[in-house]
Amino acid sequence: MRYLLALDQGTTSSRAILFTLEGRPVAVAQREFRQLYPKPGWVEHDPLELWETTLWAAQEALRRAGVGAGEVLALGITNQRETTLLWDRKTGKPLSNAIVWQDRRTAPLCEALRERGLEPLFRERTGLLFDPYFSGTKLLWLLENVPGLRARAERGEVCFGTVDTWLVWNLTGGKVHATDPTNASRTLLFNLHTLAWDPELLEALGIPAALLPEVRPSDGDFGETLPELLGAPVPIRGVLGDQQAALFGQAALEAGEGKCTYGTGAFLLLNTGERPILSERGLLATVAWSLGGKATYALEGSVFTAGAVVQWLRDGLGLFRESREVEALAESVEDSGGVYLVPAFTGLGAPYWDPYARGAILGLTRGTTRAHLVRAALEGVAFQVRDVVLAMEEAGVRLKVLKADGGMARNRLFLKIQADLLGVPVAVPEVTETTALGVALMAGVGARALSPEDVAGRYREAERFLPTMPEGRREALYRRWREAVERALGWAKE
Ligand code: G3P
Repeated sequence: MRYLLALDQGTTSSRAILFTLEGRPVAVAQREFRQLYPKPGWVEHDPLELWETTLWAAQEALRRAGVGAGEVLALGITNQRETTLLWDRKTGKPLSNAIVWQDRRTAPLCEALRERGLEPLFRERTGLLFDPYFSGTKLLWLLENVPGLRARAERGEVCFGTVDTWLVWNLTGGKVHATDPTNASRTLLFNLHTLAWDPELLEALGIPAALLPEVRPSDGDFGETLPELLGAPVPIRGVLGDQQAALFGQAALEAGEGKCTYGTGAFLLLNTGERPILSERGLLATVAWSLGGKATYALEGSVFTAGAVVQWLRDGLGLFRESREVEALAESVEDSGGVYLVPAFTGLGAPYWDPYARGAILGLTRGTTRAHLVRAALEGVAFQVRDVVLAMEEAGVRLKVLKADGGMARNRLFLKIQADLLGVPVAVPEVTETTALGVALMAGVGARALSPEDVAGRYREAERFLPTMPEGRREALYRRWREAVERALGWAKE
């Protein structure tokens, strides 16, 4: 019994990574699933695909490692956050597609809530704001648009869950309907201070409490997997939203420590210790984890599009075949040739919070090549992170170094661009699988095989990228970026 299994259900793929108790990866399995775009601004996933690809990855990782489920001490689940699912409590069948965090369909609902003057109350209680990003309005949309759903929900026949809850439900054969505070804190329904669903907020939105999962600590007991799924029952002892898992995996355990993960989006989280910090600058207050029932909080800057822009250049425009060609292509030109790409495909998150913003490319000339476009896309991601870092500075937090991880952190040119456009060094850790590592370690803590002290002090820096761009040039480029953003804002508003 020496292993920890992490299931990482992300926006574009489901992964499983088997770790030793010391946090060394032993085997990985990964499978992509379909992205469904039924209308402009809508993004859905098939719940069964999320479950089946995750189960496949878990089985495959064990097979590749030649490890039996009986040797796995505990399993941890980490997931794309906010994505909203509903299923039948009796049959376990999904009642609709999952509405993905990127989906913008509830922008008018958010406006209506704001007009009712509810935002200050929700902000104070949940640390969030009214944006289609969060689960609450997605759930409301489903209740209003799926025929018969509200009546059934009120009778207790329906389960709501974020992806963690859906996976726990399926892994335990419907025995456990539960979530953890990191996922709950992304719904608009969870009180950050009491660490419980907030009856007043539920009432204000008209959401029946009978739908909601039980909230257990991130290192809590989430039951065990059905024996037939992995070959033997495995205890589920850790649940964390993916960004919080990465924070834990980067061992940012003390207040003031943070990280930036470049996945589908880019998410900068800063540990703020025992108290949530409510910023006025478009940053979110969120639960970082709850360990032994005690919560640690984080300040978050959420950037909706990071790796997704690279994927779009590949699949949407066909500019190259493999994402790993990006670095060489972007390196083949000295700069973006004056091109700016604002990747607001699904609106803009922090600090703008505009669900009606849409992508824009500015500054094209006859001399523009695909290499310039690719480089402008990388810069567009780096500029967005700078927007968030500036908001953090306005909230009184000065970043000395940006600890990066995630897919784009493998692109050395991108990290160099990030350091240059930020004017702050960018560091990458030795283990870059921080999301999966984080939840594996959390499951180890939940199984009482590890202590949080074992996790602290684990961070090993592999490489550091220093800014070399002259200050004047950095500022001039950034000013132009802000002008480009101005043009993308509000575009989809009728
Ligand atoms: O809040 C959304 C976030 O959890 C998605 O993460 O890794 O799929 O970009 P990722």
